[in-house]
Amino acid sequence: MAAPNNYKMAKLFQPGAAPFGNFINYYSFNPPENRLQLLTDSLFNTLTNGIHSNKISVLDIGCNAGDLTVELYKSLTQRSEVKHQSIADVVMFGCDIDSILIQRATEDNPYPDQITYRSFNIMEGATRVMHLKAFLDSHQKERFDLVCCFSLTMWIHLNNGDDGLLKFLDVVSSMTKFLLIEPHPWKCYRSAERRVTKLGCQGFEMLPHIKIRNDVDVQIKKYLTENCGMTLVKDFGATTWKRSIQLFENTSLKYILK
Ligand SMILES: C[S@@+](CC[C@H](N)C(=O)[O-])C[C@H]1O[C@@H](n2cnc3c(N)ncnc32)[C@H](O)[C@@H]1O
Repeated sequence: MAAPNNYKMAKLFQPGAAPFGNFINYYSFNPPENRLQLLTDSLFNTLTNGIHSNKISVLDIGCNAGDLTVELYKSLTQRSEVKHQSIADVVMFGCDIDSILIQRATEDNPYPDQITYRSFNIMEGATRVMHLKAFLDSHQKERFDLVCCFSLTMWIHLNNGDDGLLKFLDVVSSMTKFLLIEPHPWKCYRSAERRVTKLGCQGFEMLPHIKIRNDVDVQIKKYLTENCGMTLVKDFGATTWKRSIQLFENTSLKYILK
């Protein structure tokens, strides 16, 4: 993450402000089990039925310190062993805008041969393509089988506006067979704004310009299905934080890294 270069940015980057949702202790208040307990066998079954390859490639965007990435990896590989499925291998790529979180994830990585972490901003096109292509090439894959966006969309939206959010949905849909997404409802935007202003920061510049508001989670689903060639295949229900987790499938069968 680039160093703050002025006072306003310095305030935004003070510990606790977390302008990208880059909380240093995220998993102490939202442990991986909160999401994993909802995913159950049906995620695994849908993946194995839909992916005809002995290697599943997973991208976890906004992976923070990697705790959920690692637990998801364990859950997918354990299910594969129990069910004697033909999947031989799961490889995961976790990325996050915050390089300190990625350093922690890398240092604590229990599966360095299967899980790779890199720090970059998913909204920066050339950097994104470079990193994702390098990972896919290293595993002889042309696209991801699963892309995960857990508790990420609000941060993309607050920092990049409506156009940025829709572009993001477009980009992620086109690089994967399945998309697992846990969008924030609108009330989380208000809480995020309150938290940064309480710390004396100016708040999110894009927020007043955002038009996709009260039903943002519904609009995300609508955009994915109407504009990105995605079909909703499974709704896993809502977490204790009242965020729904949904699995979409790319039925357009067109894949491109962009
Ligand atoms: C609230 S945390 C969620 C962490 C994890 N996905 C989970 O749900 O357990 C959001 C994460 O997304 C990352 N993030 C936000 N904007 C990003 C961007 N443009 N590119 C990459 N990572 C981003 C943040 O640094 C933060 O670690």
